[in-house]
Formats: sequence, C-alpha cells, structure tokens
Amino acid sequence: MTAPLKHSDTITVDVALGDRAYDIMIGREVLPSLGARIAALRPGTRTAIVTDRTVAKHWLEPAEASLAAAGIPTSRIIVEEGEGSKSYAGLTQVSEALIAAKIERNDLVIALGGGVVGDLAGFAAAILRRGVDFVQVPTSLLAQVDSSVGGKTGINSPQGKNLLGAFHQPVLVIADTAVLDTLSPRQFRAGYAEVAKYGVLGDEAFFSWLEKNHSDIFKGGSAREHAIATSCRAKAAIVARDERETGDRMLLNLGHTFGHAFEAAAGFSDRLLHGEAVGLGMSLAFEFSARRGFIPQQEADRAIAHLTAVGLPTHVRAVPGLNWPGVDSMMDLISQDKKVKRGQLTFILVRGIGQALVTRDVEAAEVRAFLAEKLAVRP
Ligand SMILES: NC(=O)c1ccc[n+]([C@@H]2O[C@H](COP(=O)([O-])OP(=O)(O)OC[C@H]3O[C@@H](n4cnc5c(N)ncnc54)[C@H](O)[C@@H]3O)[C@@H](O)[C@H]2O)c1
Ligand SMILES: [Zn+2]
Repeated sequence: MTAPLKHSDTITVDVALGDRAYDIMIGREVLPSLGARIAALRPGTRTAIVTDRTVAKHWLEPAEASLAAAGIPTSRIIVEEGEGSKSYAGLTQVSEALIAAKIERNDLVIALGGGVVGDLAGFAAAILRRGVDFVQVPTSLLAQVDSSVGGKTGINSPQGKNLLGAFHQPVLVIADTAVLDTLSPRQFRAGYAEVAKYGVLGDEAFFSWLEKNHSDIFKGGSAREHAIATSCRAKAAIVARDERETGDRMLLNLGHTFGHAFEAAAGFSDRLLHGEAVGLGMSLAFEFSARRGFIPQQEADRAIAHLTAVGLPTHVRAVPGLNWPGVDSMMDLISQDKKVKRGQLTFILVRGIGQALVTRDVEAAEVRAFLAEKLAVRP
C-alpha cells in the first residue's frame, strides 16, 4: 500500500494486458483532460459519447467541452438511466446511433456514466463493425473501482443478468473523483461495498486504513483518490493474472454468490442496489466462514462492524420493505448463479481479513441450514 497522495495529484494505474494494456487516470478534475489525452492516444479520431439522462445533466457538457478544446469531433447518444437500458432495446438504440454517427474502425466510443452505460456502450463498441475501441469515463463509485476496469461488457437478457456480452478492454479509463460529488449518497455507499471488498479479499492493511478513513472518502477528501486507486490497482492486478476468470478473478466475486441471490429476490430493483447486496453477501460470507471454522468469530465481527459503520445492510432482515422468499427459493437462486459449475457450488470464503479463497466443497445442505437461520433471525 502506498501513502495517500495529495488532492491535486493524478494517479495512473496501468492494466498490464500486453498489447491491450491501458491506463486508468484517477484524480480530482481529470475529466477536463479527456480531449487532450484522446488526441495524444488516437490523433484524428472521431468520437461518440454514450451517456444516460442523469449523468448527461451534470457531466456531458464538460466532457464535450474538453473534446472540442482538443479539436475532436463528437456526437451524443443519451439512454434512459437505470438497469433497463442494459437490454436489447438499449443495445439497438446505441448501436444504430453509432452507425448513424458514422463511427468507424479507428474512431472511439466514449462511455460516460455508471456501470450500466459502461457495460452497454462497451458491448455496442465490441460488436460495432466487429470491434471499435472505447474509452471509459466512469461516473459512479462502483464504475470507477469495478465495472470500468477489466473489460467485461454486456447486456441482460429476459432470462437473467449479463447473459450476453463480450470481453472488450477499454483503451483508456478517466476516473474523475469530483464527478462523484453529484452521485446520491445511497449510490456512493453501494459502490463503497466494492472498495471494502478489495481490502477484505486481499489487503488487510488497506482494510485497516478504510476503517480509519472512510468518512473522508465519503466527504470527498484526498482519501477518496487513494481508495479508488488502491481498488483499481487490486482489480488490475487480478485481471492481468486472469483476464477470463478461470482462477483468481473469481475472488472478485466475494459476497456475490449470496449477494446475487438477494438481488434477484428483490427483482434487481432499487429496493436493493447491487453494492448493498454485496455488503449483505460479504457479511454472510464472513459469518459462514466463521461457522466453518475458517476464522474466529471476532474476525467476522470486525468486517461486519465496518460495513455497518458506513451504513450498508449486514443483516438479511435489515433491508426495509423487503420480504424475502423462503429458503427453497433462495437456494434455487443460489444454484442458478453463473459460478455454479455442473451443479457444484463455488463459494468465495475467507481465512481472515485480506485472505479470500475459492471453495468448491460446500454442501448445499450446509448453505440451506445457514440461510434458514439467517432468514429467521431479526438483528
Ligand atoms: N463490467 C463489469 O465488470 C461490472 C462489474 C460490476 C458491475 N457491473 C454492472 O454495473 C451496473 C451497475 O453500475 P452502477 O452501480 O454504476 O449503476 P448505474 O450505471 O445505473 O448508475 C447508478 C445511478 O447513478 C446515476 N449516476 C451515475 N453517475 C452519476 C453522477 N456522477 N452523478 C449523478 N448521478 C449519477 C445513474 O444515472 C444511475 O441512475 C450493473 O448493471 C452491473 O451489472 C459491471
Ligand atoms: Zn459487484
């Protein structure tokens, strides 16, 4: 772990993927450099910005002004905000608009938004003319620390989330931490679950630092850049080792097997945001690890205490307005998770804070008993 940097510094994290390597630029006020950076990377390029309505209100004009200042032609494609845009309809809208904007093989698609816009625009770029490069300008905390890094793009099908997609790495990521000032506190907190995840899965020192500095991250102090850079470095290192998720990249799913089941049970709605489900899922992964004797209960309590301190849900019954389905339905949702291979459950558990591991020897009966208990208990 490096020392926190000064507010004004731009931090570069490189994603080492050979001829598909790229930089993530992180800093307050790094968005105004978008045009100059693209001009240097791809002289003579044309661009199209894909964004959603909410992000457009705040950040489209600054992004366009930066491109204009660098003499880069651009056009705008605005989708509705929300998960609904990661659909066939959203893909049709964006792909056809990119064709109409005459975006060609050497041009660039710019994804300006949260994970929805990043996944959708990235996938549209991946299939447009058999592959056009794209730049990620993530505007939610979740997108800055997770979805904009690593090249997973895609849309949902009526049968499930992220069932259609492609690995398509961006050529540049511009993460302006000031852009997060307009994000709702609830969305910010949900994204923070993924930040805490990096500490929990592989970096105890980072987790300790988060325990002390979380309020400065939320307030937008210089701790924010450090937290985002450390998270990106952690994800970049894992992606560089295992781009296609055959090994270590699975560790990034810590809290996600339980989390996805809760998200699905809540209908992937704003009743439970992805990051909130991950907070809940990580808490359960810790409890379950303690129950299996992998860690002492105090270690689980420490992790859960931090998630509670930032306001994430850590008890199944702590989500207001949600009536969970019974344990049978929850087990069905868990076994539909894409990490299940030929009926075998894969769980990411912990041997301590900073020591996650992939386990395949978890019996369904064990999970069922654990969940039945959690679903019954009020905090
Ligand atoms: N590709 C990956 O590796 C990966 C990883 C994790 C999640 N995801 C995907 O990411 C999506 C979730 O991303 P998300 O949480 O960013 O959701 P999102 O893109 O829907 O953004 C959340 C909300 O915040 C708004 N918003 C975003 N930035 C804002 C800003 N700066 N100011 C004001 N409002 C802003 C958006 O308009 C939206 O209403 C899911 O579809 C998930 O599947 C992908
Ligand atoms: Zn996640």
